[in-house]
Amino acid sequence: MKQGVIFDLDGVLISTDEMHYKAWKSIADELNIPFGIKENNLLRGVSRMASLDIILGLGNISLPDEEKEALAERKNRRYVELLQTLTPSSVSNEVRDTLKELNDRGIKTAVGSSSKNAKLILKLTDLEKYFDAVSDGTNITHSKPDPEVFLKGAEFLGLSPGQCAVTEDACAGIDAANAGGFFSIGIGDAAGYEMSDASISSIRELLDII
Ligand code: BG6
Ligand code: MG
Repeated sequence: MKQGVIFDLDGVLISTDEMHYKAWKSIADELNIPFGIKENNLLRGVSRMASLDIILGLGNISLPDEEKEALAERKNRRYVELLQTLTPSSVSNEVRDTLKELNDRGIKTAVGSSSKNAKLILKLTDLEKYFDAVSDGTNITHSKPDPEVFLKGAEFLGLSPGQCAVTEDACAGIDAANAGGFFSIGIGDAAGYEMSDASISSIRELLDII
């Protein structure tokens, strides 16, 4: 029985992964780099700059750092514009009920996201109240598959990795959870990823396996 659950945010609790896709696609289109759903899946859980490096790599393009910074900033402006459409009703009842059930059971909860926009998303969707801690892109130096974001999340909860499960839609996130010694649960794109300790097709299923 786990004492804590750490949730990835984008693509697990909320479909912001589609907004990341739209924002990156507009940048890729400008650069004439073919970019579809398959390529977008490579960016799940990966930091903003590392995502840009992957996209530029797909187009065999290399750019000076200042241009890369400008592109990453432009992508983020578009993404943050899209985020403004989020409201509490952007979160499914199933996600809310699952988080509430964990709170009621006394299981500690944290967000473990590579995003620097995580706190903004939690605020816009009124999800903050369900979490004991938030570990995100603002408190890490290494992005998934490095375990840092989850290790910090466990530390913020006052728990050891062995006491926590991690729920992730990114293969890079499952690798990060495994590297940190967490029980890894794949959902969405990571459901069925052979490195996951468990796979679920719907978030409420985690209540039966932790
Ligand atoms: C992760 C997403 O949660 O956050 C990635 O899965 C994204 O796609 C990363 O690149 C960084 O997000 P942000 O909001 O800091 O650009
Ligand atoms: Mg994700």
